[in-house]
Amino acid sequence: MSTHIVWHDLTVTKQERYALKGHKGAVIWLTGLSGSGKSTIANAVDYQLHGQSIHSYVLDGDNIRHGLNANLGFSNEDRKENIRRIGEVAKLFAESGQIVMTAFISPFIEDREIARQLFEADEFIEVYVKCPIETCEARDPKGLYRKAREGIIPEFTGISSPYEAPTQPEITIETDVLNIEEAAAKIIQYLRTHHFIQ
Ligand code: ADX
Repeated sequence: MSTHIVWHDLTVTKQERYALKGHKGAVIWLTGLSGSGKSTIANAVDYQLHGQSIHSYVLDGDNIRHGLNANLGFSNEDRKENIRRIGEVAKLFAESGQIVMTAFISPFIEDREIARQLFEADEFIEVYVKCPIETCEARDPKGLYRKAREGIIPEFTGISSPYEAPTQPEITIETDVLNIEEAAAKIIQYLRTHHFIQ
């Protein structure tokens, strides 16, 4: 824990950064089981926003765990730290005026709430990427469910580690019902109706 640290305010305000970009910053926080479709949806939304000259970016669990969070595993404690860091990084992106998507399982309600508290009320958009575990397991894009069932991967979410679904997410996307275009459209529509984009 650092001590004797004093916060330094920047001259350029958040509002001035938003004005320069022509839109507000925000985080679209996707949560759901492995294989539920978080990264695919985030990527599709990012592609569409970019095409509309919106400054967007994706923070993805598998990628961030190669770098910033390479020292973290999958214990409850490490997942908490994973999400704490991502909350802080997402906040920096949002304050710089970007719309940032985070695609992390983020299995614990408490940790997602801690992340939410970092943001202005309307700038944290929780998206529950809802999909039955049977479907995620049948998809098994990385073969991880099979390994989890065989006991090769311990503490696997949904198998040997818990997942706490959101109780009041801003958006719920059922990926066993909607296809990727429909899923992305639901988020884009939310951004329109809440005046994040035109
Ligand atoms: S989180 O629980 O801490 O939010 P995160 O989203 O960063 O998880 O990483 C999840 C990804 O790591 C999964 O999509 C999967 O590819 C991989 N993974 C490896 N081991 C595990 C595990 N034990 N539980 C869940 N996902 C795992």
